[in-house]
Amino acid sequence: SQDQPIALTVNGSTHPLTVGGTATLLQVLRNDLGLNGPKYGCGLGQCGACTVHVDGVAARACVIPAAKVQGRAITTLEGLGDRLRPHVVQNAFIQAQAAQCGYCLNGMIMTTAALLAHNPRPSPQSVRDALSGNLCRCGTHIEILAAVERAVA
Ligand code: FES
Repeated sequence: SQDQPIALTVNGSTHPLTVGGTATLLQVLRNDLGLNGPKYGCGLGQCGACTVHVDGVAARACVIPAAKVQGRAITTLEGLGDRLRPHVVQNAFIQAQAAQCGYCLNGMIMTTAALLAHNPRPSPQSVRDALSGNLCRCGTHIEILAAVERAVA
């Protein structure tokens, strides 16, 4: 479909872009804006690897048409924190060495950060519920839950 001009507000900056009519938010973030925190896993909204925040709510960028989120505040892993000033959740995952291959961690971290933003002291069950749609093919869920516990403590 035809290219169209859009503007996306990502990590606090607004970017004018020209994108294909069917471009997903994930494609634009990675390919046009060079933000490779969000990952392409399933492309079907089922694994969580592509998670970003849209107006503070965790959302799956692989199934969101880019044109649909104009004017919304989009935050990626890069906008959460960086090496010098990591977000408390990023720091907890680093301290806990929660990664095996690491491909799922963008989604784990972004989903956890959104959870803690509206519920700073979630119960272990709330954490499990929040992360239940985020898949880790290495099977490091135990380490991931330990990392979240660190972020909560
Ligand atoms: Fe978006 Fe799997 S890549 S949910």
